[in-house]
Amino acid sequence: MSATSSIAPTYKRLEGKVAIITGGASGIGASAAQLFHEQGAKVVIADIQDDLGQAIANKLGEDVCYVHCDVTKEDNVSNLVDTTIEKHGKLDIMYNNAGVLDRAFGSILDTTKADLDRCVGVNLGGAFLGAKHAARVKVPQRKGVILFTASACTSIAGLSTHSYAASKYAVWGLARNLASELGQYGIRVNCVSPYAVLTGMNSKGMHEDVIAQAEVRTSRLGNLQGEILKAEGIARAALYLASDEAYFVSGLNLVVDGGFSVVNPTMLKELKIVP
Ligand SMILES: NC(=O)c1ccc[n+]([C@@H]2O[C@H](COP(=O)([O-])OP(=O)(O)OC[C@H]3O[C@@H](n4cnc5c(N)ncnc54)[C@H](O)[C@@H]3O)[C@@H](O)[C@H]2O)c1
Repeated sequence: MSATSSIAPTYKRLEGKVAIITGGASGIGASAAQLFHEQGAKVVIADIQDDLGQAIANKLGEDVCYVHCDVTKEDNVSNLVDTTIEKHGKLDIMYNNAGVLDRAFGSILDTTKADLDRCVGVNLGGAFLGAKHAARVKVPQRKGVILFTASACTSIAGLSTHSYAASKYAVWGLARNLASELGQYGIRVNCVSPYAVLTGMNSKGMHEDVIAQAEVRTSRLGNLQGEILKAEGIARAALYLASDEAYFVSGLNLVVDGGFSVVNPTMLKELKIVP
């Protein structure tokens, strides 16, 4: 473009970056894959839903590929990182997003040890392995970003089951501890923590209309009115943390909940001061 051209250059926030997104075949991860790609990143989608993950990679084009990776298996995670390095020569952003929910709600009395093991195995174990193998290649690079999807249940109690909450608090604890160790190598470590979003995790098999109604209801139950939280809203927060715009941000839990976890409206509602 000539210096006198009136067309502004298109600024892409992740131009030249290489990103891995675990759990990238559905929901928040799939939205992040699309957004990171639009913003100039080369994206490696990692998941266990091979057909979905491959279809997204095919749709987005040559700078996006799919790798089967069960994040609970260290050899799978190690292979994911090595494949990325072989293909692109570096890894800038490791977004550890894969996660599972045991169920929507439930008492400790109904919770089995197997529920806890599954949540901790995928949510914490997967995050741990992703961070470990990302650090293996990022420490020599002396820069990079490690990002996790935790949950707003790290900010306020009672939003989820005990197994899920425990696993996500642990992810947040891991992120803080990693931020401490990896800062010396210029590696930033952060979490993005969503309020409830309708995704494959909580709306599989539901009709589109029912999902739309549930989205409106869930967002209305929160604090911020007039907006409906979608997976893209979380992907946008992840994009900020992944980009150089957040160059001095590390050890942050970016809670995307419209202020839900900092507001307790019960007294004002009881006094009928707010509707
Ligand atoms: N949806 C919500 O309301 C919500 C709220 C807070 C946090 N989160 C977190 O957001 C993240 C993304 O979830 P989502 O809502 O997009 O749900 P989702 O089910 O649409 O996506 C999760 C993805 O993780 C993948 N996955 C599960 N186990 C895996 C494994 N062992 N190895 C590799 N991939 C695996 C799934 O196949 C799926 O594609 C999760 O960590 C979840 O805990 C979601």
